Amino acid sequence: MAVEPITEFIGAELTGVGYADLERDDVFGEFLDALNQHELVIVRGIELTPREQVELASRIGTPVPFVLERYRHPEIKEIMISSNEVRDNRPVGVARVGNFWHQDSTFVADPAPYTMLHGVNVPGTSGHTLFASAVDVYERLPEEWKQKIAGRTALHSVAKRLRIREDHVGLSVAELKAWIDHHHPKVEHPLVQTDPHTGREFLYGAPEYLDSVIGFDHNENAAFFDLLDELIQDEKRVYEHRWTRHDLVVWKTRTTLHAATDVEPGVGRTVHRVSIEVG
Ligand SMILES: [Fe+2]
Repeated sequence: MAVEPITEFIGAELTGVGYADLERDDVFGEFLDALNQHELVIVRGIELTPREQVELASRIGTPVPFVLERYRHPEIKEIMISSNEVRDNRPVGVARVGNFWHQDSTFVADPAPYTMLHGVNVPGTSGHTLFASAVDVYERLPEEWKQKIAGRTALHSVAKRLRIREDHVGLSVAELKAWIDHHHPKVEHPLVQTDPHTGREFLYGAPEYLDSVIGFDHNENAAFFDLLDELIQDEKRVYEHRWTRHDLVVWKTRTTLHAATDVEPGVGRTVHRVSIEVG
């Protein structure tokens, strides 16, 4: 197996490796090491059954079943199906997942540390995934901002991105806000954290899941979020993964910022996702 960095900020592509190789302890060890050192690893065109994908995930940690039962794989509950396809008048999976910049599930108290995707049916022409490094974002903050955020805690919330459900119809905006506060209370995370594998500092939080930095006033929060958007979306620092059939993409959720891009109309796209808990 060869490990080739994708950019100087984030990601490594692993070549010359198939599922049978990854079953070997030494090859798996190199795979895990590449993931922990590069934040994101990609193996192009690796055939995996859903069961093999979960097997591989379970060597990294413990695959966690997706919260919404109806979007789980029918036989393998640890797989969440991300799809815009419809079969027998029923959506195959969850459509429009993560189509904005974020780190996975920062709105919960203890997000699973790894995410693994396998491209089942992926158009090469759209539905790409953008990646950026939260280490790189932190490093590029102006010194005055590094000082302003040092030691601070931020509040995270899913409120800006929560989907409106059928049973919310008829609620006033105030009632909906109260419902969100009750069912999805804001959580706190230190804004600057240290990666246990590399010892590097990174920024934990992206504007869409950030509510506010504790101790900042409205103007400071707004200025900080604008700055983050600018740093995260800097095209020169973003890796765009253009999917090919059966790509395996795994990342560390805390240090990897990412965003899904739109799928062109009339084109089907299905990806199998596993969330991996450790410890
Ligand atoms: Fe995500």
